[in-house]
Amino acid sequence: MPRSNSDRQHIAIYAGTFDPITLGHLDVVHRGLKIFDQLIIGVAENPKKCPMFDLETRLAMVNESLCDEKNIKTVAFKGLLVDLAHKHNAAALLRGLRAASDFEYEFQMASMNRHLDQNIESVFVMAREDYTFVSSSFIREISSMGGDVSSLVPKPVLERFKR
Ligand code: COA
Repeated sequence: MPRSNSDRQHIAIYAGTFDPITLGHLDVVHRGLKIFDQLIIGVAENPKKCPMFDLETRLAMVNESLCDEKNIKTVAFKGLLVDLAHKHNAAALLRGLRAASDFEYEFQMASMNRHLDQNIESVFVMAREDYTFVSSSFIREISSMGGDVSSLVPKPVLERFKR
């Protein structure tokens, strides 16, 4: 029997390179879990960004950081975000907004994704104030220069940096 809209699971994709995952990303995940029944965390292969951590390590760090969460599935992906959404039956793309400067890029990306598929909605949550200045590249830079990032990344990431 076909499911009605009301009993359909609300699934969203939260995608990123996660090189590495930060407490800012986890904040977005926890906000997303208040809205959606299930989140698919899409870890992008993204060779054009030349990630510091290989895909396997990025996936492991995401999984270990979210091991207490039930309604989450982590997948690696390459290709279009809308295709990942189709594959997992997701109707939304979750994004975090840190500051006004994020808006222009996010607006462009949401518009392009809407152009690619009108039925997939981009949904934005506002990042917690403590993390508005956090980005994965800042974390990598600070850590590689011996700075303290312990208040900005989850334990599994900190352990990798220490190694
Ligand atoms: N907290 C902490 N950091 C955050 C953050 C938050 N709430 N929101 C964003 N960031 C950081 C990210 O870590 C990233 O940092 P970095 O550039 O220093 O590594 C930066 O801000 C940009 O984030 P984002 O735009 O999410 O980039 P990304 O590389 O993590 O992910 C994809 C980009 C994977 C979502 C995008 O490339 C994509 O959609 N790819 C699929 C291809 C596709 O469909 N293209 C058409 C879409 S228009």
